Amino acid sequence: MTTSKGRYYSGLQQATAIANDSLSLRRTCNAIAKVIAKSMGMTGCRVLLLNPKNDFLTTIGSFGLSDLYLRKGPLAATKSLPEVLEGQIAIVSHAPSDERVQHPQIAESQHVVTIIASPIMRGQDVIGQVRVYSRQERSLSDLDEEFLRTIGHVCSVVLERAELSQFKERVKRTCATAPKQILPTEMPAASLKPVEFAHESEAEFANLLDFYQIEWLYEPRSFPLAWNGEGVSQMFTPDFYLPELDMYVELTTMKQDLITSKNRKVRKLRELYPDINVRLVTRKDFARLLAKYGYGPLGDAKVEGVGRILYSQTQIKRRVRSLARRVSKDYAGQRIVMIGVLKGVMCFLSDLMQHISIPVKVDYMDISHYGGHGDIVKITRDLDCSITDEHVLMVEDIVDTGMTLNYVLAHLASHRPASLHVCSLLDRKERRLANVQLDYVGFEIPDEFVVGYGLDYQGEYRNLPFIGVLRQE
Ligand code: PRP
Repeated sequence: MTTSKGRYYSGLQQATAIANDSLSLRRTCNAIAKVIAKSMGMTGCRVLLLNPKNDFLTTIGSFGLSDLYLRKGPLAATKSLPEVLEGQIAIVSHAPSDERVQHPQIAESQHVVTIIASPIMRGQDVIGQVRVYSRQERSLSDLDEEFLRTIGHVCSVVLERAELSQFKERVKRTCATAPKQILPTEMPAASLKPVEFAHESEAEFANLLDFYQIEWLYEPRSFPLAWNGEGVSQMFTPDFYLPELDMYVELTTMKQDLITSKNRKVRKLRELYPDINVRLVTRKDFARLLAKYGYGPLGDAKVEGVGRILYSQTQIKRRVRSLARRVSKDYAGQRIVMIGVLKGVMCFLSDLMQHISIPVKVDYMDISHYGGHGDIVKITRDLDCSITDEHVLMVEDIVDTGMTLNYVLAHLASHRPASLHVCSLLDRKERRLANVQLDYVGFEIPDEFVVGYGLDYQGEYRNLPFIGVLRQE
């Protein structure tokens, strides 16, 4: 077997295993994109879905491409390498000067030289594309072609099975059971269009989602809530839809007196459309969310020290020991790799591992923090040890929105561990956006500023041996 054949064989093996996992569509496609790029020795890859209604291509998974490149604007399938729509593989040998490339100046600035696009087929129909990118000139061998076509079949199966089809099913089901007609949903490609937000808080929220690479659509759907004869007399259009999380989000960050009416609408929506998952984020919720990154009205809130102790040193010790016992029992006879994201986790991880009675390896990661518009999350310190085929226990000090964990778990899953579970000391459910599964939880806490035992406020208080609630001015 030649080296490239071996690489392709192993790539296909990995991609089929990923496809067979129950990860979300986005995570699956990101992981497959990585496998494709690595197997072919290319710089980047993306998996695109074709929207038959408007012929636009939407990125549903990517690897190795900059945010600028991914968000360079809507990609019209009929204009961008149209031969792929006929089921052919297209190759661009010099992207900045090829007229089939829709945004050549961005290709040039991002040093993209070769682009190879291969169709994802379902039967005779093209339903999407796999595109790979290289900074060097690159030709296409028969083996490359064979690999791309086969991986296209894997993607096709993924698409068929995954959340997008579930979403469509849900829309169909809701249409069948809803009291009156629902406006058609325009799903893909919408998030690639430039969006005019009604309020700056919405733009900030979109930036935050972009940072954590969570796909969003702005006001993609309106729900009729009341009818007057044949006509609709009341409609509700939530601000965001997050396809990966299958969640609508309504931000009520303007006048507080509107909250009652918004609450009523959300309640009605839940009654009429029980399958729809909608989350109301109030001004207070949003301010607290932004404060974590040093933004918004509470970003530089003055604090007067710790107002009260939420969990004493003794309570923490007792809970940590009990978590360690459960972990040791559940993993009996195995060894685990415990992974923490710096820095908040240091006290908890260090105490937890000391009470675990099975063999343990420990590793740390660090990721960048939200810094405003145009930023995307980056791993600033990756793992030292390999976790492939290992049992991994991801350890967190606190889970709030779940966006950090959502991102980190996708990264860890792409390394193909034997299993992946989560242990968090604190769970602040009220702030949750990404519905990540927590297997071991120390304490469920209310929506308050907590510090100590590793947790900080603007870098301070990590050294407190207890967990306390801050007193704000
Ligand atoms: C904390 C914590 C988690 C994250 C959870 O880290 O350690 O990693 O927040 O928040 P989320 O669920 O809303 O994503 P933080 O960003 O405060 O950094 P630190 O650990 O260095 O204090």
